[in-house]
Parts: sequence; structure tokens; C-alpha cells
Amino acid sequence: MIPPRYFALIPAAGVGARMGAAMPKQYASLAGKPMLRHVLDTFAGMEAITHTFAVVGGSDGYIDDLMRNGPSLAGRVTIVRDGGDTRRQSVLNGLLAMRPQIADDEWVLVHDAARPGLSAGLAVRLIEALHADDVGGLLALPIVDTLKRSDGAGRVDATVPRDGLWAAQTPQMFRYGLLRKALEAAAEVTDEASAIEALGLTPRLVPGSPRNLKVTLPDDLALAELYLKALND
Ligand code: CTP
Ligand code: MG
Repeated sequence: MIPPRYFALIPAAGVGARMGAAMPKQYASLAGKPMLRHVLDTFAGMEAITHTFAVVGGSDGYIDDLMRNGPSLAGRVTIVRDGGDTRRQSVLNGLLAMRPQIADDEWVLVHDAARPGLSAGLAVRLIEALHADDVGGLLALPIVDTLKRSDGAGRVDATVPRDGLWAAQTPQMFRYGLLRKALEAAAEVTDEASAIEALGLTPRLVPGSPRNLKVTLPDDLALAELYLKALND
């Protein structure tokens, strides 16, 4: 029997509205190369990953240069020019494009283009934790701050117990067939795990890392760059 394989799927079709920059944030240069290039280099360099798919917008004007500047990506990465209006739709379009190459019981690691700090070591940690799991799961970090709910007028309405609370990261790793079924059935969700949860299943939480932060606001760029320049995982 051939063991199940692992594929990476990178939604990279967002516009980066909250970053407010001239170009979509996934093309911002950090530590010498675009965010998306960091992510593609990481997955393309992993022996455990059979192939990587990245979904970009239909009128994306940056991806060709990125691929030209990274000749080692050729043959390891397929660009799907079919981004959707939402992250969920972009992921679904990517899953559709992967269909000819992947079986229902093989694994997909969905990872944000906006998380350039992911190391191969972290991705391997996720794969090792989940390869025999019935459901799948995600990298996530236990919340350490005390949490406050706002009253909507700038004051504290309540302190929310943080017991058991984790912040979801990516990759989120599920089998192709289950993931596609879950996302097709889901209302708008902001991650894959939510769609799996809506089926009544319980994704496993695997400890992630602060270096795997999602770059969302302008201040996040400098922090992500610090992690990218550091040698540790
Ligand atoms: N994404 C996507 N298709 C969309 C929206 C988002 O592929 N229609 C991708 C982004 O490119 C990013 C990831 O999903 O890699 C996480 O989304 P987010 O951080 O929200 O990025 P943006 O949607 O681009 O940012 P914003 O919400 O600030 O506009
Ligand atoms: Mg968004």
C-alpha cells in the first residue's frame, strides 16, 4: 500500500485591506524576499510535501516575477489563478484545481500566504502529530493574555476566562475529501477547522509558535522580519 501523501495549499488571493499598502501584503518584501516566496520556499524545500499549490487572484500582476526569481520552485509549485471573493472560496478553488493529483484520503496543509514565519520544523511537527489522526487539526497557541470584552464604547464589559482558549494558526491539516465536503457545506468561515467543527468533528490542537504570526497590520511587518532573520525555529 502506498502511504498517504501531503500537499500544501496556500491561499494568496487577498488584497490586504488592513495593511493598506499599494501592493497586496503577500508580495511585501521581508528579509530580502516577498512573504509569499518565504512560504513557497519552505514547502518546496520539504521532503514530506509532495507538491504545493498557491491560489492567486485572476488579475494578479506580481506572481510571474516571483516565480521567475525563484527557479527552484518550478516543478514543485503550481500557481492556480482563480482566487475567490473570500478566503474560503479561494481555498475551495484550490482544492478543485488539485483534484486530478490527490486522493480523498490524502492530506492537505492549508497555510496563509501571510504567515511567512512558518518553518519546515513546525510543519513537520504538525504532520507528525496528525498523520494517524481520524480528523486532522491545526497549529495553534494557548492564549496568555487576560481577555477583556469591550462594551462597544471603549470600556470593559467583562473579563473573559482564558482557560482552554487557543489562537488558531495555520497550517490546518485535513484529508482532501473531508476538507472539501466541509468547506462546500460551510457558511462563511475564517479557517478550515471551523468548517470541520460544523460537521460535529473535533480538530486536534497542535502547539504552534509565535514566529508563525499572521502579518495583518503595518506594525506586524517589522516583527515578522525579526523572526525571519533569527536562526531559531
Ligand atoms: N485570502 C485569499 N482569498 C481571499 C481573501 C484572503 O486567498 N479572498 C488569503 C490571503 O491572501 C491570506 C490569507 O487568505 O494569505 C489570510 O487572509 P488575510 O490575512 O485576511 O489576508 P487579506 O484578506 O489579504 O487581508 P485583509 O483581510 O486585511 O484584506
Ligand atoms: Mg481577509
